[in-house]
Parts: sequence; structure tokens; C-alpha cells
Amino acid sequence: MRDNLTPLFTEFTCGSLKLANRFVMSPMTRQFSPNGVPGDDVASYYARRAKAKVGLIITEGVGIDHPSAIGEGTMGEKNIPVLHGNAALSGWRTAVEKVHAAGGKIIPQLWHMGGIRQEATAPHPEAKSMRPDEMSEAEIAETISGFVRSAVNAKAVGFDGVALHGAHGYLIDAFLWAGTNQRDDKWGGDLPRRARFACEIVKAIRTEVGPDFPILFRISQWKLQDYEARLADKPEELKIITDILSDAGVDIFDVSTRIFSDPVFEGSEMGLAGWIRKLSGKPTMTVGGIGFDKELAESFSQPTAAVDNLDEVVRRFEAEEFDLVTVGRALLMDAEWVMKVESGIDFESFDLTAYSRLD
Ligand SMILES: Cc1cc2nc3c(=O)[nH]c(=O)nc-3n(C[C@H](O)[C@H](O)[C@H](O)COP(=O)(O)O)c2cc1C
Repeated sequence: MRDNLTPLFTEFTCGSLKLANRFVMSPMTRQFSPNGVPGDDVASYYARRAKAKVGLIITEGVGIDHPSAIGEGTMGEKNIPVLHGNAALSGWRTAVEKVHAAGGKIIPQLWHMGGIRQEATAPHPEAKSMRPDEMSEAEIAETISGFVRSAVNAKAVGFDGVALHGAHGYLIDAFLWAGTNQRDDKWGGDLPRRARFACEIVKAIRTEVGPDFPILFRISQWKLQDYEARLADKPEELKIITDILSDAGVDIFDVSTRIFSDPVFEGSEMGLAGWIRKLSGKPTMTVGGIGFDKELAESFSQPTAAVDNLDEVVRRFEAEEFDLVTVGRALLMDAEWVMKVESGIDFESFDLTAYSRLD
């Protein structure tokens, strides 16, 4: 093993979750689950990565138990898995068992697309898409219950925790961000009120799953609608959000940035995961551009070469910016990427055909 990478091959514990190393597979929508049911091919895809030393897998976004949770989003998505109903739960149970047998851990990402879901799209074309400004108290309550039912299902099928998709402009983030939440009641207005929806979901899940079952929360400044958007302009604002979420029961922040090393606030080179770790005292995960010379959006249109930027990852890890290292495209391309990291073998450059394969 390359000597300086040793810190990333150490164990990590959070509540009932024990990981063999610090590498996490980032949630990536794959569209291989017809009728919302993940089959054996999906289970094997995740198990291959667990076998090849990915410490923790966060699944693709999984639709919560609410009619308008998923549909076609900005990419016209189809065949997204769900986390309710016997067939889907049985498929997930197989995936969990295969990942555990391979020595890994797996957590589903609970997803409600909110207003990014295009109206009248399957699986429930009749359901209206949910936007904070238009939601009634009853609709808010029903959506929160859908998150809770799905989290309870996740625990029942053996997942090692739950991860909430609170980023990228989808429903939870649409409440957090002033650009999509202009309410002036208990669900909107100032930051504490905009954070209430996320907070109520976390609290309600915590009550049902007990104290040790990890709850992860993905947070981002950027939105699909606006890459330059910001939830917080200053550390003090960020702290308001992360304190509320930590008090509600979030155990780990999955901090979604487009480039993991980008500074966020003036006068510091620290990335967003570092700020959130410092402000909240909670473990954080970093993500964005690990293993490649281009970030996600650019790699749709430009050749994307493999780069070994692990030295910078380790430098920031040792500076205590984050606890876990999350990897998206590199693990989409290559199930054995972590083993290549470990033994210093060259990585593969990015290839768009990876989106249509499940190998
Ligand atoms: C095919 C694909 C699907 C993705 N789907 C999701 C998703 O369902 N949920 C999510 O939070 N992020 C999603 N992302 C973003 C990744 O989790 C990750 O944050 C991003 O790709 C940056 O990491 P990378 O530079 O290592 O690829 C997706 C990315 C890709 C490439």
C-alpha cells in the first residue's frame, strides 16, 4: 500500500455502524429498477463494490413512500427504485444480504424530488409535484410520514442506516433554500423556519429507528437550478442549519460539493465538509472530483481524465476536514477503484458509456 494513504484504511464507527475503511460510494441514480424493484443485477452491482473494499455504499436515490416522490427529473429519469411494497423490499433485502456477505455496509438514500419532478410522469402520473410554496399542512404531514415509513422499511430489510437527500434542490433542500421557499409561516421565512421541514423528518425518523441507527444527511450549497446558489453566505448561517439538524438527530453530514477542495468562505482554504465538521462537531463526508480532472457537470461534455488527487484528500483528512471520503464517478466506472488506490495502480479515465452499464 502507498504509505501515506494508511489513514484512509482505518476503521470508523458511528452508533451501530462500523466501517472497515473511510471510502464511501456516493449515491448515484442508475435507472435499472423496472417498476421500482431492484433486481439481482442491482444487488450484484453493489456487492461487487463491497467485495472490492468500498467501506460503505450509499445507494442511488430511492423514492420514498409518497406518490410524487419520484418521476422524471431533469434527466428524464425512469426505473428508479422505491423502498415500499413487498417486491421492492424483497429486492433490497437481497442487495443488503449480498453486500453484507461481501463484508460491506449499505445505506439507502431516501429521495423526494419535489418540484424537480416533471408533472404527469410515471410511476404516478396523476400525483401533483410538491413545491414548498404550494404545499398544505396536510401535504407536508403526508410527505413527512412517507419519509418515516421508508426509513422504518430500511431498518426492517437490514440496511445499516438511512441517508436523507437534503441537497441539490430536491424537496428537502427546496424548503431549506430561500430561492424555492418564500413561505412566511412556520415552514418558511428565516433560516430556522426553512430548516423545520428537514428537522421534523429527522426527528420523526429518529423516534422510530432508535438512538443507534445512523441518520446521514446530504447537504449542498449548489442546486440543479443554480450552481452558484448558496444556502449560507457566512459560517454563522451555516451553523444555524447544522445545529438544528444535529439537534434533531443527524449523525453524519454528507457534504455535496462539485470539487471537494473548493474553499467556501473568504479567508480560509477549508472546504464545505471542513466547515460543517468544525461548526457542528459531527462527522462529515467529502465528495466531488476525487480521481478525475473534471467535475460532474463538465464530464458530460468534455473528456475527463483520471488523476490521482489522493494526496490532497489525505492532507485535508489529516487536517480533520472530514471523516469519510465519498467517491461517485470513479466507482461507477470501476468497481475495483478502491483496491487500485490501495495498491497504486493507475485509474481509468471517465467514459460516458458507464451510465448505461451496470457492471
Ligand atoms: C450517474 C450519476 C447519478 C447521480 N445520482 C445521484 C443521486 O441519486 N443522489 C445524489 O445525491 N447524488 C447523485 N449524483 C451525484 C454524486 O453522488 C456525486 O455527488 C457527484 O457525482 C460528485 O462526485 P464525483 O466527482 O466523485 O463523481 C449522481 C452522480 C452521477 C454521476
